[in-house]
Amino acid sequence: MLIKTIHGWELPERAATPEDVFINRRELLAGLGAGSIGLGLLSGKAEAGVDPSAKYYPATKNPKFADAGREITGEKLNTSYNNFYEFGTSKRISKGAQALKIRPWEIKIDGEVEEPFTIGFDDLLKKVMLEERIVRHRCVEAWAMTVPWTGFPLKALVALAAPKNTAKYVQFQTFHDPEMAPGQKPPLFGGGLPWPYTEGLTMAEATNDLAFMVTGAYGKPVANSMGAPLRLHCPWKYGFKSAKSINRITFTSKRPVGFWENIQAAEYGFWANVNPEVPHPRWSQAQERILGTDDKVPSKLFNGYGEFVADLYKDLQGEVLYR
Ligand code: MTE
Repeated sequence: MLIKTIHGWELPERAATPEDVFINRRELLAGLGAGSIGLGLLSGKAEAGVDPSAKYYPATKNPKFADAGREITGEKLNTSYNNFYEFGTSKRISKGAQALKIRPWEIKIDGEVEEPFTIGFDDLLKKVMLEERIVRHRCVEAWAMTVPWTGFPLKALVALAAPKNTAKYVQFQTFHDPEMAPGQKPPLFGGGLPWPYTEGLTMAEATNDLAFMVTGAYGKPVANSMGAPLRLHCPWKYGFKSAKSINRITFTSKRPVGFWENIQAAEYGFWANVNPEVPHPRWSQAQERILGTDDKVPSKLFNGYGEFVADLYKDLQGEVLYR
């Protein structure tokens, strides 16, 4: 695959949308032939109030995650400033993401499990206990939000899947539907991205308390732009690990290669744990911009969640843990 590396200092300052200062994966993609994508005319707007899961919200708050030490990011900002490349490479995909058809929605569970199965999203909701967690969300692009997610611990889904002991990793896969999501259309002149979006965790990570399957945010079903109806959130890792709109979960003995790792392994790795002391090859990770404010604050190892996850990595110091 042709990779064009753009240096941070070559990027224009985007005065109109300061959030985009660090965002240069877009240029990287332009180099790959993804180009720009027209979003304006998408149809299929989700009707307000018809989501069959609305009755589960708001869910009980988990007191362990009642206070993230920062103000919750405004809902409007959170639902309208997103990375969701299936709908375009800009942050402003929320209108386009209304085309995401979230029912019927099935999730296939396969690979190294006792019995592969497919489960409807609403049936899955009947088998898990939803809770609300307020956590920090740190993008590799050095911006951060604080989100009141609703969902359930990933380990509940792992238990439901009944993996064999040959399963060492879990792979998460997003839908693949270029008609619905124009960002997945192959560019006219070749190149293109390795759709569908995939990401992976080790079994130890997937069964850690902090790994969370998100179904809602702000006390209601999660917005399309944030990855409806089911996404992952791993608050101690850079945001690209948290795949959106998941419809397949595969247990495997082989380490999965993530979407971004596949595109640019030198910049986006498997582990991607937040660490202010390990810069991205093109920018510093020492600080993060709190979206919705003018504040820049020091970043923290494991995004401040070391008490939950540091042990997972103590015997893995030979690995590239922080990219
Ligand atoms: N999942 C899919 N399917 N497609 C994406 O483009 N972007 C990732 C992650 N999950 C992405 C994805 C990145 S880079 C980030 S930072 C987060 O989603 C952004 O989540 P948010 O838009 O809810 O803030």
